[in-house]
Amino acid sequence: MTEPDPNFDALLRYLREARGFDFTGYKRSSVMRRVDRRMQEIHVAGYDDYLDYLQVHPREFTPLFNTILINVTSFFRDAEAWEQLRTQVVPDLLARKGDEPIRLWSAGCAAGQEAYSLAMLLSDVMGLDAFRRRVKIYATDVDDEALMQARSASYSQRELEGLGPDVVRQWFEQGDDGRFGFTKDLRRSVIFGRNDLVQDAPISRIDLLSCRNTLMYFNSDTQARILQRMHFALTTGGVLFLGKAETLLTAGGLFTPVDAKRRFFRKVALGHGNARDAFADLRRVDSPATGRDDSGLHIVALQSAPLPQVVIDAEGRLALSNLAAGQMFSLNDRDIGRPFQDLEMSFRPAELRSAMLLAGKERRLQWVRGVPWLRAEDKIYLD
Ligand SMILES: C[S@@+](CC[C@H](N)C(=O)[O-])C[C@H]1O[C@@H](n2cnc3c(N)ncnc32)[C@H](O)[C@@H]1O
Repeated sequence: MTEPDPNFDALLRYLREARGFDFTGYKRSSVMRRVDRRMQEIHVAGYDDYLDYLQVHPREFTPLFNTILINVTSFFRDAEAWEQLRTQVVPDLLARKGDEPIRLWSAGCAAGQEAYSLAMLLSDVMGLDAFRRRVKIYATDVDDEALMQARSASYSQRELEGLGPDVVRQWFEQGDDGRFGFTKDLRRSVIFGRNDLVQDAPISRIDLLSCRNTLMYFNSDTQARILQRMHFALTTGGVLFLGKAETLLTAGGLFTPVDAKRRFFRKVALGHGNARDAFADLRRVDSPATGRDDSGLHIVALQSAPLPQVVIDAEGRLALSNLAAGQMFSLNDRDIGRPFQDLEMSFRPAELRSAMLLAGKERRLQWVRGVPWLRAEDKIYLD
């Protein structure tokens, strides 16, 4: 156990407030070790002095984050697991999906090698045309610098080590600068974005979620929360692909092994009510006054608020409805996860779909006012 250290806690708080990076959910001893290492490099002795240093030298955030967020990665890392993906997991997935689109997510993608490995493998197995027509690979990380490298899709000779010459010839082109660019044919199907696994909502309707060598940096509470969201992110039958050194100790019945040795796990289907749990801790509220973890209070407040409220996710599905909305619009747990447009409340008593589309497009609040609604004997007006 690491000893409590108020100066270290103050430093973590500062990183969260100044840059939005919340390292409190990471394994404390390992974050401490890494911060110590960085402090030694610049000859700063204590966490309080280092906080002062960061305030005066904002450029120091970059090397510090580079030290804490470990970006080590490679193409087809752990060959044996990728072979299992090629021969078993992906063929199963293709059989299950028929001719439907396929959505993959590389979460904690570092400089992109994992996402591009997925692209090469899928394209090999299903053919380039089908790959381009049907496959989307979302690749996310919290580290903007790593994402920049990933988007550039440019790698040194050393970074290609381990790929056979045929693979390099097929998918890479050497530029005048000697670096190797990943082919645009596959690159177009990979969409990069910043996503913080601790704080941001997950991407949804994912068939294969690769989150490798990332989960292991978090403490067990945070791992459990992330796994809950990953469960939500996956389609029924969807597969989670973890790193060699990672286990699912905290998954609490959400996943079942497909091949535990190579770290493939299938989502266990649960009732839709679980979608709520997946978001229940999305905005953790740590009370500054008491130091207490009040996570979950916000969801109770939302659930019991007197005004009906629903939350629609980016895919247009119902993610949450509070009790008042449930009563007024006859929503229940089975409606969670359904497309909003399929729910009666999207068109009765008012046409809400176009207002929602406009709100999404213009990123502005839309009002629909004075909507008459006849309920039992009473006519009421809704805003
Ligand atoms: C060791 S790398 C793993 C790269 C790749 N998945 C692999 O297995 O080779 C860990 C990655 O997790 C990212 N990471 C750390 N904390 C994260 C967070 N809260 N949300 C998203 N990514 C995070 C780091 O920036 C880093 O790129």
